[in-house]
Amino acid sequence: MSVKKSVLQALEENRETSISGEQLAKKLNISRSSVWKAIKSLKEEGYTIGATTNKGYRLEAGTDVLSYEGIRPWLAPKNQKISIEAFKTIGSTNQKAKKMAMDGAIQGTGIISEEQTQGRGRLGRSFYSPANSGIYMSLILRPNVYANEAVLVTTAVSVGVCRAIKKVTKRDTQIKWVNDIYLDNKKICGILTEAVTNFETGLVECVIIGIGLNFRQPENNFPEDLKEIAGSLFEEKPDTLTRNRLVAEIINEVLVLCEDLENRDFLGEYKQRSMVLGHKIKVHHQNNWSFARAIDISEDGGLIIENEAGELETLSSGEISIRRME
Ligand code: BTN
Repeated sequence: MSVKKSVLQALEENRETSISGEQLAKKLNISRSSVWKAIKSLKEEGYTIGATTNKGYRLEAGTDVLSYEGIRPWLAPKNQKISIEAFKTIGSTNQKAKKMAMDGAIQGTGIISEEQTQGRGRLGRSFYSPANSGIYMSLILRPNVYANEAVLVTTAVSVGVCRAIKKVTKRDTQIKWVNDIYLDNKKICGILTEAVTNFETGLVECVIIGIGLNFRQPENNFPEDLKEIAGSLFEEKPDTLTRNRLVAEIINEVLVLCEDLENRDFLGEYKQRSMVLGHKIKVHHQNNWSFARAIDISEDGGLIIENEAGELETLSSGEISIRRME
């Protein structure tokens, strides 16, 4: 690990307390001037590091730069070994994760970026991913499921993200089938699941889970076409909660659920959080809109609807999108 990363890790692990240059140098077995250089370079990267003559260095509470070193202290003990790569900017974290998965990256590997220049959404849409306000992350999973069960991964991830948000903010979010997360009737998070399937066995080789979460209001607000529907978890940057902390909780919750997909208990929570069940909806499929009522969620995460003819039908994610009517 580079000197800069070691210093950052020590500061992140001691967020609430100061650590002197001497202590840092001793702990990391480096010279005090190397510590000083690392601190200078971290400051240039946007970290706010307070320095007091007697006490030493301390990461200021508001400092919120996405990094592996900032995420790790919050990861559950069993996730301490997963590898996470953080970027300032990237085309798409899903795209990068897919390449890494093809090269053999293991279950739990994560990619995270401050900004995406080609963020991708469902149904070929783009995903607005400005710097400093959001969380854009992808996780590589290797679940033992058949392609038609992959929608269940998406369902589990939606529940995991809601649980993580609840844990760190105490707020209750809702899910719009299949995987949009809403707060106060505004979409604050979208999930794009992409699976690579083995043609011969029909089993999924890997699933890339892409999560785009508007953590706080973007500096220049949302573009006109998103203003009506998009919202953020916070209006402004919160005082102490960091995006790193939330990312770690998302990883913890998602991995717990996805490592035990046989256990469908989370479907109950998905239904409770659903903002469409019992409502009249509009279904968009193959260039057609039709009306229906959302009735239930099936055992494999499909949406059971009553169609216009009064028949029950199960929608599985694919190319379908829905809109709530009432
Ligand atoms: C949607 O709402 O349609 C899904 C949006 C998914 C966006 C995330 S951001 C991280 C990952 N990388 C991408 O390019 N897309 C996903």
